Amino acid sequence: MPPSNDLKVAMDECLVRYGGDLYPEIVVAAKGAWVRDSAGREILDFTSGQMCATVGHSHPAVVAAIKESAEQAIHLFSGMIPESVARLARKIADLVPRPLKRSLLVSTGSESNEAALKMAKLITGGFEVVGLGGSWHGVTSAAGAASFASDRRGYGPTVPGVFALPEPNAYRCPIEHCRERCDMTCLKVGLQLFDMQTSGARAALIAEPVLSAGGVIVPPPGYFETVREACRARGMLLIFDEAQTAFGRLGAPFAATKLGVVPDIMTVSKTLGGGIPLAAAITSDEIEQTAHERGFAHYTSHVSDPLPAAVGLAVIETIERESLVERAGELGAYLRAGLLDLQQRYEAIGEVRGEGLLLGVELVKDRESREPHHELGARTTRRCLELGLSMNIRRRPERGSVWRIAPPLTVTREEIDTALQILDRALGETLDEMARGSGA
Ligand SMILES: Cc1ncc(COP(=O)(O)O)c(C=O)c1O
Repeated sequence: MPPSNDLKVAMDECLVRYGGDLYPEIVVAAKGAWVRDSAGREILDFTSGQMCATVGHSHPAVVAAIKESAEQAIHLFSGMIPESVARLARKIADLVPRPLKRSLLVSTGSESNEAALKMAKLITGGFEVVGLGGSWHGVTSAAGAASFASDRRGYGPTVPGVFALPEPNAYRCPIEHCRERCDMTCLKVGLQLFDMQTSGARAALIAEPVLSAGGVIVPPPGYFETVREACRARGMLLIFDEAQTAFGRLGAPFAATKLGVVPDIMTVSKTLGGGIPLAAAITSDEIEQTAHERGFAHYTSHVSDPLPAAVGLAVIETIERESLVERAGELGAYLRAGLLDLQQRYEAIGEVRGEGLLLGVELVKDRESREPHHELGARTTRRCLELGLSMNIRRRPERGSVWRIAPPLTVTREEIDTALQILDRALGETLDEMARGSGA
């Protein structure tokens, strides 16, 4: 057997399956917006890996930072602060909107949210956490408990004191009230229900500024101002989970800067590490001081590690040097125009939404009923992969079938054109097949 077949057998026999379908081939390389498998196929990666490779896979600056840091220091005693950590903390402080300033540098998005929630509990003395329907904040205990797009079943009780607000999705209004534009009745009703249920020990509201895993839902203008005020009125901290939106994807440095709403704690992860596990919980001097006085502890093996921090610096410097924030705005508009053009031609595209280079395409059986077209979503996504385009489909039974399209910010217009051609062909062929009643 050729080695790749051995490896495919190992993939089937030796790994714990952790959810979702696995790509059937072993992957051997990833560069820029492309991934190559062991069969030699080149695939356009319009999910930026797991939404992390905003500067493209294996950007030379990231590779150089890894090599240089590996020569200097990979890991240290957690009480020692390496140069790269001090530099990265200063760099983040220079970029985030005030009063945010101080970073806790950890490894994953789940961990940054875990730390942010712990901090909020310590500061407020409460424990109740409010999340949004369709949210995804991670798989660890507190972050997972506040996530409503992930699979919660089968693991027993989650941490107590978690509440969900209906998500502001006008296309599929969770309270079946709005149709074209969210008028925030969901927020009003959700807060009323929370006020009825709270024990008074409120700690935080955690939200993704664009609900990505929930189907790329963009809350309406004014939503987060109202949320900000609701948190203040209830003595709760507001946490923005900017795992996917920080450092440029929306065509702005952060969602917070775009919205003009500053949370008490911002968490960043995927887009900071460029593929290396790196995340941060960022807060103000005031909150950090109180947390410290109350004994805040998050002393892990990899807190403030030198190598990931060096990579984070390289990622941010690359974003600045290559003007990737502006590029996300320009190319996002270009990609959106291409998707809107497809919508003109395919009744099955119910809505194109999102911001910058974080876009969602909702597939429906017809535009009037908006009945989700799960079969089309699954089959077209498969066909796209066969034709060389990797895209993520978010399928939730009552909540729609939505392609999440998020290429690296370094993607070229030609690569976007190729992706749109593949999408067009996959949609056309699959709809024809379905009309003829053929195919699985
Ligand atoms: C918005 C958001 N927050 C947090 C996480 C969790 O990050 P990680 O998988 O790095 O723990 C994710 C992961 O998909 C995410 O999309």
